[in-house]
Amino acid sequence: METIKLPEYEDNKPIYFKELLNKRHTVRSYQKNRPLNLRDLSYILWTAYGFRKDGGRVVPSAGGLYPLDIYIACGQIGVKEGENMPTGLYHYLPDRHQLKTIKTNDIRRDIARASLSQMWMAEAPCMIIITAEYERITFKYRERGIRYAFMEAGNVSQNIFLSSFNKGLGCGIVGAFDDYALKAVLGIKKSHEPLLVMPVGYK
Ligand SMILES: Cc1cc2nc3c(=O)[nH]c(=O)nc-3n(C[C@H](O)[C@H](O)[C@H](O)COP(=O)(O)O)c2cc1C
Repeated sequence: METIKLPEYEDNKPIYFKELLNKRHTVRSYQKNRPLNLRDLSYILWTAYGFRKDGGRVVPSAGGLYPLDIYIACGQIGVKEGENMPTGLYHYLPDRHQLKTIKTNDIRRDIARASLSQMWMAEAPCMIIITAEYERITFKYRERGIRYAFMEAGNVSQNIFLSSFNKGLGCGIVGAFDDYALKAVLGIKKSHEPLLVMPVGYK
């Protein structure tokens, strides 16, 4: 399957941190026909799980084990930078800052249906899905590793919120879904358990 190299992102708009926090809220209504810019998606993904310049990561992780993965479901008018990014499901590869194509169909409505039919989600041009592969952390911390993975997903999701609002976008957060139905829709590695779905787009 193909990979897409993510472009350099910009972060040159000064904003007070408290102003950003005052903006953050859960968005449940989106402009369906307004795509994200690929540079903005690149920035949001980096803030979610990217590598810092010194080789560390932008979020903390118990034991530095990084048990999470980030996927992006993109609609037909999902992401644009010159050409539209093809519809599909992509896996974010933080070490290469690239997207790997997993599927080429639009699965947003199926994700919304699996999320207890929260159909507002499907209006968003893109959805970011955070998954955990527990073996990557429970081999060291046993049962406790599971809660560490949940906590890490909290760090990732707040970064996604703040970077989206910093780019003038809005986003939502969904934890209410049927685990089996969502896994079936995503069709990703069986060990990757979905924890959160975050629709992203212009409010
Ligand atoms: C773990 C988690 C799961 C959530 N799941 C849903 C959800 O399934 N659907 C939804 O509409 N909002 C969901 N929310 C968003 C909350 O309803 C929202 O954050 C809360 O009402 C506070 O509003 P605010 O985010 O606008 O400040 C979830 C939030 C968290 C942290």
